[in-house]
Parts: sequence; structure tokens; C-alpha cells
Amino acid sequence: MKSIKKVCCIGAGYVGGPTMIVIAAKCPQLDINVVDINEERIAAWNNSDLDKLPIYEPGLKEVLKKCRNRNLFFSNRVKENISSADMIFISVNTPTKTKGIGAGQASDLKWIEASAREIGKYGKGETIVVEKSTLPVKTAETIKSILLSFTKPKELKNGDDKSFYVLSNPEFLAEGSAIDDLENPDRVLIGGDNKGAISALKEIYLNWVSEDKIITTDLWSSELSKLIANAFLAQRVSSINSISALCESTNANINEVSRAIGMDTRIGKEFLKAGPGFGGSCFKKDILNLIYICNHYGINEVASYWEKVIEINNWQQKRITKIILEKLYGTVSGKKITIFGFSFKANTNDTRESPAIKICKDLLEEGSFLSIFDPKVNPSQIAIDLGIQQINEKNFKNNESGWSFSESLEDSVNNSDAIVILSDWDEFCDINYDNLINKMRKPSWIFDTRNIVNKNDANKSGFNIWSLGNGSLI
Ligand code: UDX
Ligand code: UDX
Repeated sequence: MKSIKKVCCIGAGYVGGPTMIVIAAKCPQLDINVVDINEERIAAWNNSDLDKLPIYEPGLKEVLKKCRNRNLFFSNRVKENISSADMIFISVNTPTKTKGIGAGQASDLKWIEASAREIGKYGKGETIVVEKSTLPVKTAETIKSILLSFTKPKELKNGDDKSFYVLSNPEFLAEGSAIDDLENPDRVLIGGDNKGAISALKEIYLNWVSEDKIITTDLWSSELSKLIANAFLAQRVSSINSISALCESTNANINEVSRAIGMDTRIGKEFLKAGPGFGGSCFKKDILNLIYICNHYGINEVASYWEKVIEINNWQQKRITKIILEKLYGTVSGKKITIFGFSFKANTNDTRESPAIKICKDLLEEGSFLSIFDPKVNPSQIAIDLGIQQINEKNFKNNESGWSFSESLEDSVNNSDAIVILSDWDEFCDINYDNLINKMRKPSWIFDTRNIVNKNDANKSGFNIWSLGNGSLI
């Protein structure tokens, strides 16, 4: 296998962007071209104003600054960059199918297929193709068979024919900590059946990852491991969320329970924070995929087991709206509610599957006016997610619904009846409660779904507090 000099990545999204930025920074000897069919996205990656990049990640712009236009380039030139690449990462999106067989569960692989065809057509010489996107098991087989259709049979090959090697190298980064996760991964997983191709990819990671953290396996195990890692993580969130409801009914405290069980090294302390339910582009999609695969193989009991993880997640979001209604005397119609945090977690501008979407939609349905504040999410994205444009509060009519975006935390609470904390941004942990309560209507409520409010301070200022999984406060 020739040595890798030129790398191409198809898809400049939340996975492709940060991953290539870190590889470029760690491997100055490589020439990396990130390509995307979305021109606006590429223009944003090339923006000289680093505060206008398409995605927000702590530390991202600092690393990007080091390598953009040095050995890292963003462009829409898909064909040329495929042709000249020794290694091509596929990082395109694989959304859940909305129609046809498997709708609502299976992943739509049309972008993967399209990418494989482009690679088959324009690839030259020996090319290693790396699946980065999370994919249902056995997708590599699809990619392989498409690529094979573009190559000549062995006996007809001469010196300059094309050949492809497919690897699975799932990405485990979490949004909000992507740069750190990429720079210090728990493990790197490479699945494949060609030793040379595996070594070539391993060489790249060895520039900054120690060998004992690089696991190599067969293609199918690698693809499946990524799905299962996400399913297990999501399951932990649903497990702790289910117990948050029990704590509320029994005067226990979910933080104490998390701490006590997490100190058992067999359980571990990570991923035990109760909240409004998991969001993000992966957890739900991957579990739905797992369910689809299990049903496909007739393992229906296993499918229903994993279905519960999603059911609890939906239930948790619904339950929060119900509690808000109950506490606000059974109705929010005509009331103003301030939402702190619209992203699916802190430190990202990503709103995909954010619990805020469902909770806000339910509150709008009940006739409230929402004043939304988020440090990084763009109001135009919120309008897309909620399906309605923002309005001026003055034009809000009783019995209808409406929302507006606030540029500051302080302004967002003017004349509000309640604050609902939905994502765990640092900004919401250290609040001047006296300042806020003076601007709000009485009685003033805080609904803390992330357990980040300083209850003593908030109480002293006169707030009524409901805090998720906190029985003694209810
Ligand atoms: C996400 C998940 O993180 C990943 O694990 C999952 O498998 C797919 O969805 P992400 O990077 O977050 O990946 O997706 P997104 O931000 O939507 O980026 C995908 C990019 O691929 C988009 O910019 C899109 O324009 C681009 N794309 C898609 C292409 O360039 N070519 C295509 O044919 C299709
Ligand atoms: C996840 C996986 O962690 C990552 O390995 C994979 O590559 C992609 O999917 P991501 O979705 O970006 O990453 O973020 P993550 O930190 O896992 O959080 C997912 C959701 O679970 C968020 O909504 C978060 O708020 C929630 N969560 C997480 C909790 O409610 N409690 C926790 O203890 C942890």
C-alpha cells in the first residue's frame, strides 16, 4: 500500500469538520481537502471571521486557525478532490427514513450511496475509503459492492487501474467537547479486512494517539460497536431519568442517588445526569436503527427492549410540560415563559432532536408566549425547529401562541411568569437571581430540568423552584 499524502473528506458537518481539523493539526505532512455539496456551509468554513463558522465547538477556531489554508482546505470541488485522494473519509448524514420500507426506523443511505458512486467514478489508483458516519451494520458491504462495480476484474487489471479498500472508523466524539475528544480519544476503532489499509489509517492516528488505544477489528464488529456504544449511553440517560420521576414521588434526590451509585466502579459515574431527555443527531437514530435490525433478524424481544429507551425519553419530555402546567395553576395560556437554552446540550449550537423542541412546542400549543434565550443557537434555526416565525411580543394575542428570541439572559425574563432551564450552559449556573426576579411577574417560578440552579440563592430571592428529581422541593 502506498503511503498516504492526500486525504479527502466528503461532508463538512459536525463530524467531518472537527475530525479533519484535528487530523490536519496533528499531521502537517498530510494535505486534507474537506468537500461538501452545500456551498453555504463551505463558505462559512472559509469565513475569515472565526465567529461565523458553521458550527460552534469550544477550542475549534483556535485549532482551525493553525491549519486552514496550510494543509486543510474546504471546497465544493468534490470530483477533483476525490480523484487526487489516497484516502477518502465519508462523513455525510444518514437521517432516519421518513417514507418507504423501514420509515421511522431505518437510516436513509442515499447520501452514502451517492458518495460511493462518486468515489467509484472519480477515484484513481489505490484508494482507501473510510466510513466515518454512523451506519447500520453491513453498510460497508453496500459501499464495497458499489465500488467494485467501477473496477475491472483481477484478470483484466493493468498497472493504472483503480482499486478500493473499505474501512470502518466510527467517530465517538460528543458535541460540545469534540476537539478534546478527538485530541484525547478513549479509543480509536478501525474495522477492515485489508491489513495494509488498516495500517495506513492507524499510521495517521499514531501521530497523536498511543497504540494501545487503537483497536482493530473486522468491519461488521466495528460498525455494530458504534451503534451499541450510543445505545448503551442513551440507555443510561433513560435509566437515570426514569429514576428522577421516582425521586420526585418519594422525597429522594436524584443527584444523591447518581453520586451513590456512580461510586460503584462497576457502574461508573459518567452519564448519570438526569435531564429533560437525550437529544442530538445520534442517540435516537442509532437506537431506531438497532430496533430495525433486530426486527429484521426476527429478534423482536430485543427490539422491544430498546424501544423502551426511546419511550422513556419521550415520556420525560412530556412529563416536564405537564409539571410546568400543574405548577402554574393548570394553565399557561396567555402567560410568558422564558426558555434558557435551546441546544440539545451545552457548548454546541446544534438543535437536532433537542428536548427543547418538543417541550417548547407543547408549551406553545397550550397558548403561552415563549421568550427564548440561547448563547449560540441562531433564531432562524429555532423558527425552523418550531415551525413558526418569531413575533414581536406586542402582537401576541391571548389564546394564540408565539415566541421571540432574546439577545440577553436579563432581557429574556421581562414580565415572565417562569424560567425553564433546558440546557446546561455555564451561563445558567451562575445567575444573579435578585436581578431576574425583579423583572418578572409574581409568583415567579424556575423549572430546572438540569439541576444546575443554586437553590438557596434562588429561594432567598423569592423564586419558587421545581428541580428535576428533587423530591424535597416539590
Ligand atoms: C451526523 C452524525 O454525527 C453521524 O454520525 C451520522 O452518521 C450522520 O449525521 P454530522 O456531521 O453531524 O453527522 O451531519 P451534518 O452536520 O448533517 O453533515 C453532513 C454533511 O454532509 C452536510 O454538510 C451535507 O451537506 C454533506 N453532504 C451530504 C455532502 O457533502 N454530500 C452528500 O451527498 C450528502
Ligand atoms: C453522542 C455520544 O456521546 C458520542 O460518543 C457519539 O459519537 C455521538 O453521540 P452527543 O450526542 O454529541 O454524543 O452528546 P452526548 O454528550 O452524548 O449527549 C447526548 C444527550 O444526552 C444530550 O442531550 C445530553 O444532554 C444528554 N445527557 C448526557 C444527559 O441527559 N445526561 C447525561 O448524563 C449525559
